[in-house]
Amino acid sequence: MIKDASQSSIPSYSPNTPDQRVDPLFFKNPARIFLEPYQQLGPIFRCHFFGSEQIAMAGAEANRFIWAENELWDYYKTNRIFREQFSDRYLNQLEGETYMRKRRRINQGFKPSILLSHVPDMGEVVFREIDKLKGEATDLRLFCMSLVIAMVSQVLLQEDLPERMDKIMAVSNQEMLKSSSLGWKRWLWYWYPPKRARRRVIFKYLGEVLDRRDQSGVEKDDILSLILAAHPKDQPPIPRYELVHDLSQLFMGGSTTSSMIIAWGMIESWKDKDWLTELRAELKSWDSTQFESMKPFPKLYATSLEIERLRPGIPTFRRFAKQDFEWDGYSVKKGESVLHLHTLCHFLEEHYGDPFTFKPQRFIENPVPDRDIHGTYGGGQHKCVGLNLARVAPPIALANILSQFDLEFSPTPSGKERYLSVIAPREDVTVRFISKT
Ligand code: HEM
Repeated sequence: MIKDASQSSIPSYSPNTPDQRVDPLFFKNPARIFLEPYQQLGPIFRCHFFGSEQIAMAGAEANRFIWAENELWDYYKTNRIFREQFSDRYLNQLEGETYMRKRRRINQGFKPSILLSHVPDMGEVVFREIDKLKGEATDLRLFCMSLVIAMVSQVLLQEDLPERMDKIMAVSNQEMLKSSSLGWKRWLWYWYPPKRARRRVIFKYLGEVLDRRDQSGVEKDDILSLILAAHPKDQPPIPRYELVHDLSQLFMGGSTTSSMIIAWGMIESWKDKDWLTELRAELKSWDSTQFESMKPFPKLYATSLEIERLRPGIPTFRRFAKQDFEWDGYSVKKGESVLHLHTLCHFLEEHYGDPFTFKPQRFIENPVPDRDIHGTYGGGQHKCVGLNLARVAPPIALANILSQFDLEFSPTPSGKERYLSVIAPREDVTVRFISKT
């Protein structure tokens, strides 16, 4: 039964902030700020967030509904900041058959067998990047982002990036994502000259990569080759600008989020000394050059899953309704903005006991998270295409780091969070890697 179709019938969350906006609370406490309204108002409520009125939906039932009913969502509008900064061929803003065709092609690049065959090279990059620091302290976030990009380069292209390209990509990706919280002001942000200059450098480099592939004609066993090979021969060639943007998406798509799994993985393991001792004992037999499977390393895998749960990179996901629909007795109108709180279940006692505590043990007992509860990678048709890679690269980095180095953080991370296009540590932390041997 519909309770009332009028706008006022959905309860409202009105925090005590200027204009009752959730933003200032969210920027300080992004993963958990919506728990209180969820517990007080139920799984659907209105709020003012990121520049507009939104209908928040949360909980396991909401996840199940939202991810199953693909045709309800306007991805063209939902992911418009990507189209605005790239083109109308960018994967996540496509819909229908055009989307499915492109998604099938991109999926080909993320076969686990291919990803696993590049583990030795990815592992090697971790030591190289730490070597470059020459024992000096470095900014934790920027280091982890550059590291992920350098690792991804091994499996995407099988080549090392030019000097400083990892840093340029890391900063550029943060700048790109920042647009999602700016409302209409994003249009000014798109013209910010240093942002545009960084994109030019990246696109020029990626164009040169494609030219080299064209000229060499050599088939490689990396993500780029598989994606190119999956393009049907009877179709017109993919335009160069689209390939450059796709490569850029694959390089940077998960760099900010994956990097935070490494950063939080280091912080949480370092804070929990008992767990660190257990994990290091497991990692005595770790050697990324001989890696075959994650099976012998359940504690490493559980650490990664627990970080996905406790510090989910993207805590909320804004969608637009493509048609009217009813849910939980309320009606939502076509065009309304729905704030999907897809990771809120991570903090509900009914799903995870002691939900605010880092307890990787829970994923040793149960290493397969429930897909409607564990929302880190989204769900449904547009579920993260890089999931397989995101479950491999950060654990490799963590294993190489924690098994070989002691960590010295400054200041000591408090464990509190802030929102910087991703859930990041509250403080600007530096880290120094001290070799254990
Ligand atoms: C911890 C790491 C990562 C997290 C938390 C993450 C999270 C997400 C989320 C929440 C979505 C939206 C899903 C939805 O619409 O419901 C997404 C989509 C996507 N992700 Fe990831 N991601 C990660 C790593 C990666 C990596 C490593 C790559 C590529 C190398 C990647 C590429 C993409 C792409 C291309 C999409 C768009 C998929 C589509 O619309 O079909 N992600 N990701």
